[in-house]
Amino acid sequence: MKSAEIRRRWLRFFEERGHTPVPSASLIADDPTLLLVPAGMVPFKPYFLGEATPPYARAASVQKCVRTPDIEEVGKTTRHGTFFQMCGNFSFGDYFKEGAIKLAWELMTTPQEDGGYGLDPERVWVTVYEQDPEAERIWRDVVGFPAERLQRLGMEENYWSMGVPGPCGPCSEINYDRGPEFGPEGGPAVNDERYVELWNLVFMEYARGEGTSKTDFEILGELPSQNIDTGLGLERLAMVLQGVPNMYEIDTTRALIDKAGELSGVAYGAAEGSDVSLRVVADHIRTAVMLIGDGVTPGNEGRGYVLRRIMRRAIRNMRILGSTGPTVGALTDTVIRVMSPQYPELETDRGRIEAVALAEEAAFLKTLRAGTNILDTAVSETKSGGSTVLAGDKAFLLHDTWGFPIDLTLEMAAEQGLSVDEPGFRRLMKEQRERAKADARSKKTGHADLSAYREIADRGGATTFTGYAGTENETSVVGLLVDGVASPAAREGDEVEVVLDRTPFYAEGGGQLADTGRIKLDSGAVVEVRDVQQPVPGVSVHKGVVQVGEVTVGAAGYARIDVARRRSIARAHSATHLTHQALRDALGPTAAQAGSENAPGRFRFDFGSPTAVPGTVLTDVEQRINEVLGRELDVSAEYMGIDEAKKQGALAEFGEKYGDTVRVVTIGDFSKELCGGTHVRNTAQLGLVKLLGESSIGSGVRRVEALVGMDAYEFLAREHTVVSQLTELLKGRPEELPERVSGMLGKLKEAEKEIERFRSEKVLQAAAGIAAGARDVRGVSLAVARVPDGTAADDLRTLVLDVRQRLGGQAAVVALFAVVNGRPLTVIATNDAAREQGLRAGDLVRAAAKTLGGGGGGKPDIAQGGGQNPEAVDDAIAAVERLVAESGAA
Ligand code: ALA
Repeated sequence: MKSAEIRRRWLRFFEERGHTPVPSASLIADDPTLLLVPAGMVPFKPYFLGEATPPYARAASVQKCVRTPDIEEVGKTTRHGTFFQMCGNFSFGDYFKEGAIKLAWELMTTPQEDGGYGLDPERVWVTVYEQDPEAERIWRDVVGFPAERLQRLGMEENYWSMGVPGPCGPCSEINYDRGPEFGPEGGPAVNDERYVELWNLVFMEYARGEGTSKTDFEILGELPSQNIDTGLGLERLAMVLQGVPNMYEIDTTRALIDKAGELSGVAYGAAEGSDVSLRVVADHIRTAVMLIGDGVTPGNEGRGYVLRRIMRRAIRNMRILGSTGPTVGALTDTVIRVMSPQYPELETDRGRIEAVALAEEAAFLKTLRAGTNILDTAVSETKSGGSTVLAGDKAFLLHDTWGFPIDLTLEMAAEQGLSVDEPGFRRLMKEQRERAKADARSKKTGHADLSAYREIADRGGATTFTGYAGTENETSVVGLLVDGVASPAAREGDEVEVVLDRTPFYAEGGGQLADTGRIKLDSGAVVEVRDVQQPVPGVSVHKGVVQVGEVTVGAAGYARIDVARRRSIARAHSATHLTHQALRDALGPTAAQAGSENAPGRFRFDFGSPTAVPGTVLTDVEQRINEVLGRELDVSAEYMGIDEAKKQGALAEFGEKYGDTVRVVTIGDFSKELCGGTHVRNTAQLGLVKLLGESSIGSGVRRVEALVGMDAYEFLAREHTVVSQLTELLKGRPEELPERVSGMLGKLKEAEKEIERFRSEKVLQAAAGIAAGARDVRGVSLAVARVPDGTAADDLRTLVLDVRQRLGGQAAVVALFAVVNGRPLTVIATNDAAREQGLRAGDLVRAAAKTLGGGGGGKPDIAQGGGQNPEAVDDAIAAVERLVAESGAA
């Protein structure tokens, strides 16, 4: 059964049983605790936690997932993949253990001709959590599952959470016996290669807190309802149903193994080592394309780094397989071909995906070249110092500065007879990681340890936000962190995080950037606030530096934001709402918000659209927005129940975690949207909105960027200056500029063609002269010449071929030389008769290029080479003459 069919059956089975099919969310998680979506339940997390009301009681999805903790295992085991698709069925307070177990059993064992997956029930093994007698009872008494294939396991295997605070619960796993060739008997408790896990049923009924491992965390309490979250690995089921020995050989990834084999010339199955590399390439390139498809671009941190690492591992493995040139283009094309039946947007976004992938490959190949030079120098220094061990700091430098992976350094050093001080390298890496961690702590709290903030919250340190109405207020310090650690006091110069009981500072959220400003304490101490975040809900953490004095917990004072900046951000935020509504009016409800950033004077707005938005539509949208500004619409905010908000037609982003009461921002009769941000009072305050353009940032997601107020004015004023300068230069009216420029470009093209014609004429004229000067060297007609310096290699080739043709059918050799940019270049051609005498162009070029201090090569009939030494051209000519003379004698 093909992967696409497994997916189709999944969704149909659950839809027929009352589940709403929900499309896969983007791999970029809308969740600050995650870099990438690792499980099917992620988009539903707010429903499990009771933070949002689900619009359905039952749902089913096939979710794109990426997990990289086991990246080193990829290709070596049979079932580790970095990208996979998790088929999930979900119940939000609807059915629980019995419902989930019965549904799973039915779908697994219903024969394929009746729409199921048709697994042999005798080969199914089930595990349950050792402290979950209820699940065990259901399997045995309700399903009639035999006790001898049911195993009880501990928390490590049968208790599931996201690894971070969130929903959790005991689980029951459905495993399949792949047969004795995969390992010893004894069930999944003994061997998980043979008894491969296919489907995990999680009975989600608790909330977990912080913890140190899979088995050590606090259970905070029960969730508002008992839920079901399941995950069936689509690729693993495909492996079983397609009868292949590992996950990489299923229909979709096998095509990639074959492509990688074709490109590298190494057949799959030739050797275990190269098979691992082929599987790594297949797995990684698919993950890379799916990530790029969802808008991730390679970078040095976060998701960008995950992508970069995966791509580099893929390219590196192609190199190990023997490929030296670019291969990513062909591999990307294959991924798009095999995956687009399930994800058609890959085809639509092909241009962007290929551009990102190819650019990363080019950068890495350049890195490899540069790093190779550095490595060679380090190797010779090491050797001349009498050592056989490359120092750890050299390996670290290669890694840190040149992005050279350590395995590459190890291998290339070994090729030159050296080992590498790996412990030294690892120590430096560790030091660097610690520096980076400390650095991250002082920046955002994205993934740092949240316990310090939680403690403050638990002590009643939640912050009251006063900033909707005002810009300053009296306050007192209720929590203080210095370098990420709770402290009673902080001194001048310290980087601090200050928690206040009341604050006018808006904490970054909902796409709106934080306020900046000052906290002035009664003691005279001043904190310059640069950023404000809410690492845990309700606790506003003001980050900045103590400018003067000492800050202590309990101190009272005054907090004041930078009002001009706030106003500018507010203008941008209100403009975003107008843009959202105007885009919806123009494009329909698919243009729903997918993200935004509201900064001083500018904003960007991401929205759903399967295709690019035509320029004319964007112009209309911009005009509409600016018309609305002139209507002087009042902007107001009020709190109401979510149902009332929906009734009033307020726009809301999917996945936002709203409680029962929501804040609704209304702009006259034009826009109504759920929003926690700060806004202007009237649209007239915006002045002007200028949309700068539109681009794709992921599958089906577009982005507009725009300027507001003075920033918009300054932009237009600058453009106006450019237009004025051009009108002056071109002596035309502004509206004539496009026509004039296009006319000039046309003329320029004509002129270039003319020059080209002259040049080739000149080259051809030279051909006659060179042919006339050919000498007979022992029966071979030899034309050798040095043509004017600066003649391009292409022209040299044209000339050589022309001269060869003029020399007719008798044995002929044409060898031309030129010096280009100070380096000698040669192109040599031989004809059929000359080759019959053993005169091959490649051999002649090699001899000439050697004399020139370089190298070259090509085909027997025409070859090209060059060197370093322009003075050696005469010697190289002599070398060619000698070879021709010798051959004639033979
Ligand atoms: N959320 C569960 C898992 O990822 C189903 O295994």
